[in-house]
Amino acid sequence: MSDDYILAIDQGTTSTRAIIFDHSGTIVSTGQKEHEQIFPRAGWVEHDPLEIWTNTREVIGQALSRADITRHNIKAVGITNQRETAVVWDKTTGKPVYNAIVWQDTRTQSIVDRLAADGGVERFKPVVGLPLATYFSGTKIVWILENVDGAREKAEAGDLLFGTTDSWVIWNLTGGVDGGVHVTDVTNASRTLFMDLETLEWRDDILEAFDVPRSMLPEIKSSSEIYGTVESSNLLREVPIAGILGDQQAATFGQAAFDQGESKNTYGTGNFLIFNTGEEIVHSKNGLLTTLGYKLGDAKPHYALEGSIAVTGSLIQWLRDNLGIIGSAAEVETLATTVDDNGGVYFVPAFSGLFAPYWRSDARGALVGLTRYVNKGHIARAALEATAFQTREVLDAVNADSGVDLTELKVDGGMTANDALMQFQADILDVPVVRPVVAETTALGAAYAAGLAVGFWETLDDLRQNWQEDKRWTPSIEPEERDRTLRLWKKAVTKTFDWVD
Ligand code: G3P
Repeated sequence: MSDDYILAIDQGTTSTRAIIFDHSGTIVSTGQKEHEQIFPRAGWVEHDPLEIWTNTREVIGQALSRADITRHNIKAVGITNQRETAVVWDKTTGKPVYNAIVWQDTRTQSIVDRLAADGGVERFKPVVGLPLATYFSGTKIVWILENVDGAREKAEAGDLLFGTTDSWVIWNLTGGVDGGVHVTDVTNASRTLFMDLETLEWRDDILEAFDVPRSMLPEIKSSSEIYGTVESSNLLREVPIAGILGDQQAATFGQAAFDQGESKNTYGTGNFLIFNTGEEIVHSKNGLLTTLGYKLGDAKPHYALEGSIAVTGSLIQWLRDNLGIIGSAAEVETLATTVDDNGGVYFVPAFSGLFAPYWRSDARGALVGLTRYVNKGHIARAALEATAFQTREVLDAVNADSGVDLTELKVDGGMTANDALMQFQADILDVPVVRPVVAETTALGAAYAAGLAVGFWETLDDLRQNWQEDKRWTPSIEPEERDRTLRLWKKAVTKTFDWVD
């Protein structure tokens, strides 16, 4: 057993990683490569699926060679992925018909409006758990069918396939045009607007309303089973692919939040707080999404409530790339701590509209409270604080929906390395914030799903043993100060509304 490993592929928004884990859930080696973020127009965000596939092969090679491990010691591959990002490709050529339209992209607002004209944005929510919004895959597929020459005809002829990036990577890993397997799991399917939360099947009436041919869609599988094996020209040839989880659900699984009432918050390009509701489908009254948590083989599915925040870490990248006030993302902490407070500045990063709990696609970003006194340190600080304020609003919604107040928040993801932010987060939430030793919980969750399917791990209890606390931040701010700053934040949020003509 000690020479055996699981390899997880994390196909994220900004990069693709391959991480090899041992039986204790410890990272043995990592390969990573960023891909280009393509912004053809304001509000449009694309990725090149062929670049993602090339990078996937490369990072697998990096991870294997850095650990000096061959495919013989890899017992299974698990995949986790940026969710909602839509790839449409021709199954006869293996080529995408258009770039991947990324989850942050807002170009489909007119399609959302058209569909919402008959029944409002909550038209399909009772069945799929999601409001109509540009965020989800469904309207992105419609845009490609309506705007790419010949796409509609090819789709009607059965030649086009749709997938989120898990499906795209697995189809290629299992042979592509030579018999690639076209699958996804329940967690990714639950982000399309097309899957019935109860039956876990595509809904023909919704597909009809969107005018999307069912033949394009992948088969919906559980999150933990053998979907196929890697094709013969790949370094991982013949290794079973045995786990798929959307990245936020994977992080929840990697945090061992398996049971009803458990939760986690991941700090990536956006923030996503997931609250496990067990086998119960809970419909939010407070702006949260109802989504799949995980499904292990034939066992019953676990559901979740999710608070999705579109822009958190990507705001720090924006300070670096678009304003140039920091040279690297890590420098934001240094710059933010050159000042004692935010100087009265609030930064609401509604770059893709506002997601949870507001769901305002008419919102756009605002920097308010500016005076002659304000310097770039205050702006950096306001940018960091925005992440904590947005998380507080989502946590309030989770508490209201569940009827129980969370007593601490488990966190993971890149920004949890930022000490000043995590302290401010605990201050604003008024509950402790706790980070595990393995902060790469997303890849770990995908590894767990794959490892369970092939018997590398036996039970969820085995996995719980692997979770260990690394660091804890406890609230230390005066309650009056917390209330004052939260009030100003909420006022700043209202300034972003109704900004799109
Ligand atoms: O819903 C979008 C989410 O899955 C993206 O996550 O970590 O790639 O920013 P991340």
